[in-house]
Amino acid sequence: MKIFLLTSLIFFSSVTPALATSPDLQFPQGFLWGASTAAHQVEGGNTNQWSVWEQQNADRLARTAPDRYKNLISWPSIKDQATDPANYISGAADDEYNRYDEDFDLLQQLSLNSYRFSLEWSRIEPKQGEFDEQAIEHYKEELTDLKKRGITPFVTIYHWTEPVWFSDLGGWEHSKSPEFFNQFVEKVAAELGDQVTYWATLNEPNGYAANSYLVGKWPPNAHNPFAYLLVTSSLIKAHKLAYTTLKQQNPKAQVGIAQSMSDVEAVNNSWLNRLIKGVIDDNSNYYFLNQIEDYQDYIGVNYYRHIRADWALSKSTPAKVSDMGWELYPQGIYDVLIGVKKYNKPIYITESGLADASDTNRAWYIQQTLSSVHQAIGDGADVRGYFHWSLLDNFEWAEGFWPRFGLVAVDRSNNLKRTIRPSAFSYASIAKNNTLPQP
Ligand code: FCB
Repeated sequence: MKIFLLTSLIFFSSVTPALATSPDLQFPQGFLWGASTAAHQVEGGNTNQWSVWEQQNADRLARTAPDRYKNLISWPSIKDQATDPANYISGAADDEYNRYDEDFDLLQQLSLNSYRFSLEWSRIEPKQGEFDEQAIEHYKEELTDLKKRGITPFVTIYHWTEPVWFSDLGGWEHSKSPEFFNQFVEKVAAELGDQVTYWATLNEPNGYAANSYLVGKWPPNAHNPFAYLLVTSSLIKAHKLAYTTLKQQNPKAQVGIAQSMSDVEAVNNSWLNRLIKGVIDDNSNYYFLNQIEDYQDYIGVNYYRHIRADWALSKSTPAKVSDMGWELYPQGIYDVLIGVKKYNKPIYITESGLADASDTNRAWYIQQTLSSVHQAIGDGADVRGYFHWSLLDNFEWAEGFWPRFGLVAVDRSNNLKRTIRPSAFSYASIAKNNTLPQP
């Protein structure tokens, strides 16, 4: 009898794991769990090339909103806001410049151990070569406050906004623009370098150059391939100079960029579509990373988009879309991560998220993303952190305030009151346990 019991115990204990639910997914020790923002989108009160452009373009953007958005499923709910010129003026944004303490409380409440935010160049260097000591002091205080809370800062130096003097000189088209930028970086390194280990010099240089100089959707609204190439080359130089400056100040600093990367799928895996995929990958995903290959300590990935490479341009209807109409394809991050494994560097997901005002898809999206990230780690991608875009609803560039990317909702009609969305609590529990539960 005893033997029978023992053997059945062994038998059942060896089969139960197969019957039981799959084990929860553990993330590597020390994984950075964070949220991202950018100065111009949350700080409020900025005067830079973008705020000047807003004043000149808000009416046009409001008037033409139906042309751009009327086919979105979200149109009925965004219509009033999207056709209002006030939507296109960043103004007070989320007033984070003054309320950072409250926002850092939110990070803590959400068990996040890291925060990615950007410095506003126009505040620090409002006139060329003249630095505003108060603005520098302000960022030092933010960094001290984060440290006090045990939150690791991940600091972006250029997230698309620049002082008016810089754009008046021609911005990134000016032959000396990399040097101008580096003078700012030298000051930042000297003043803040002791408080920061992780730096992203540039946010999505590929996306910025394309939208500002080719597509013409962002300031300075250019449609000029030569300007695009010139700006891209300036940004490459600017990054290399900044990299060298930051490493000179602190050889242990971890310096890279946040690169916009899409998952490109060759439809039907046909040779022609594979060829198209290769062209998109090489030009959009990898070009900048290849150019700065020896000047980066990690690969920063911003992931939002799934692109179908298809010569026939056949129509496809995505299963789920965000409020902005972007396909929700979280599993695509797997291919992107496997794609950047070739650089043999640590990888940080510097942004990933979705516009979802009703918070219907956010928790699902985060879970699916993290499950694919975990799979990529298992397959050799050295992923060390994930930053959800965004901590707060904020000013979404040419779209203005209507897209809601926040883990935390911001009520613009009630003194910018912050309210944590339900999906944020599910992200918080993953971050807290460093584990993604499995059903
Ligand atoms: C990224 C930007 C970020 C935000 C998200 C939605 O491309 O880096 O500032 O606008 O898109």
